[in-house]
Amino acid sequence: MTMKRVVILGAPGAGKGTQAKKIAEYLGIPHMSTGAMLRSQIDNGTELGNKAKEYMVAGNLVPDEVVNDIVATSLKEAVRDGGFLLDGYPRNLDQVHNLGYILHDLGVEIDGVLELKVNFDEVVERIKKRAQIEGRADDSDETVRNRLEVYKRETAPITAFYQTAGKLTVIDGMGTVDEVWKRVKAAVDAA
Ligand code: AP5
Repeated sequence: MTMKRVVILGAPGAGKGTQAKKIAEYLGIPHMSTGAMLRSQIDNGTELGNKAKEYMVAGNLVPDEVVNDIVATSLKEAVRDGGFLLDGYPRNLDQVHNLGYILHDLGVEIDGVLELKVNFDEVVERIKKRAQIEGRADDSDETVRNRLEVYKRETAPITAFYQTAGKLTVIDGMGTVDEVWKRVKAAVDAA
């Protein structure tokens, strides 16, 4: 079976966005990053962006109703067009259930969930480097600490849900981008 409806999970800085771009290109499906969607709303100065900004700058999750709305619209289009790679969503159990409802209504299921495992020292290093290069507003030391706490508390537990559902593949995310990609591609090919 070729994976067409895929979720990628992992801590902040684990390399989700980097690998998601490669997977999306490989599978010919759109890369849907909720973080990127929210940052684009902020850049465009929309009402939604203004609402999201205070949460993102503090490293907290944007309220579910805001994110669920953005995802629902884009997901419907993506499912109609043949699939999606979701990066940054779902991020807590309520979002897991919301995603389930949306897909159920559309008559489809997730084909697979890929979790990139990277130790926390390494993600902090990766984000520090990115902060020097890109200056992303939520990459300051204090915000990163909170993003990791939020990840541990809210997002890490959702892997158990997908494990029980038989959808989860855990991938070692340590090493170079190319080394990780070889493992990711192998997991995608094995599905
Ligand atoms: P989001 O944009 O999703 O950020 P994140 O999950 O914190 O992840 P990052 O973008 O920091 O890292 P990544 O895992 O994508 O790694 P990347 O490939 O960039 O979310 C931001 C915020 O938006 C959240 O905090 C929240 O406020 C809000 N939000 C988003 N979705 C939400 C939702 N569903 N609900 C509520 N709120 C939501 O790599 C990181 C760096 O490392 C890069 O510089 C990269 O070049 C480098 N790198 C990648 N791979 C490697 C490697 N193998 N070796 C060395 N360097 C590498």
